[in-house]
Amino acid sequence: MTWNKRTIAVFAVLLLAPVIACAKAGNAQAAQERIVKRGATIFAATCTGYCHGANGTAGSGAPALAARGFDGEYIVKTVMYGVPGTAMVGWGQRIPKDDSAAVIEYVKSLNGIVAIGSSAPRPVLSATAERGHALFIDSGGELTHCSNCHQINNSGIAVTPPIATVPADVAGLRSLSTPKVVNATLDGRTFPALVVSQVRDQTKFYDMTVVPPVLMGVSPAAVTFGDHASWQHSSVLATYSDADLGAILEYLRAVQ
Ligand code: HEC
Repeated sequence: MTWNKRTIAVFAVLLLAPVIACAKAGNAQAAQERIVKRGATIFAATCTGYCHGANGTAGSGAPALAARGFDGEYIVKTVMYGVPGTAMVGWGQRIPKDDSAAVIEYVKSLNGIVAIGSSAPRPVLSATAERGHALFIDSGGELTHCSNCHQINNSGIAVTPPIATVPADVAGLRSLSTPKVVNATLDGRTFPALVVSQVRDQTKFYDMTVVPPVLMGVSPAAVTFGDHASWQHSSVLATYSDADLGAILEYLRAVQ
């Protein structure tokens, strides 16, 4: 084979093709991240406050949207056309098309349908830790999994602050104490609650009676907080076997 100019040119193209493809994929990812970010801003300005909670958590008037296992088509339909008979109106006619599209991508990202966030490489997980990850995340709307209350790497609902201490073993996880869960009394009803914030004109807390917990915002005078509630963390772990929890602990250690 003679190395004429044409052969060299063909070789150069062949060698560069993967680089170009890779750069294109990188650009597409960056563009996607910009759209999701824009959607997050629009969501914060338009959808939170009276209805949905921040970052996909439950709001005082509307459910949580993160880690619910919604599929893409459902998200599009709900955002564009609303839910009849509820306060969820169709946004398709109310906000510019680009804005509703960005909000849709954002809500998809909250449900793990589109990738977001840091371009930091995901740590390589052992097979057990991968299994732990799958068990941690509520991907099918199970409403029992850890991600209903704990958020890791932008997925899940941040009912609690980020997990800071990983218990040494499964027994430690099962017997975890929850000193911050206290008895709240509101309108004559007493229930376990986790206080989020107490500012001048509003007290925010999670009602821990249900999974996922419901974020409430009330005037400080309306609610009183008492003793440590009898709510037990172990009650939400009942559906997991020891082997499952062992895998979850391995996952938590890997991402700490
Ligand atoms: C219904 C909500 C809920 C679910 C579901 C839930 N947790 Fe928790 N978890 C809590 C609350 C509330 C606290 C902290 C309460 C406190 O500090 O008083 C907590 C605390 C923890 C802590 C201690 C965090 C620290 O920094 O010390 C760990 C670890 C933990 N949970 C792991 C898990 C794992 C693993 C799962 C799933 C197998 C899970 N949780 C499911 C509500 C939940």
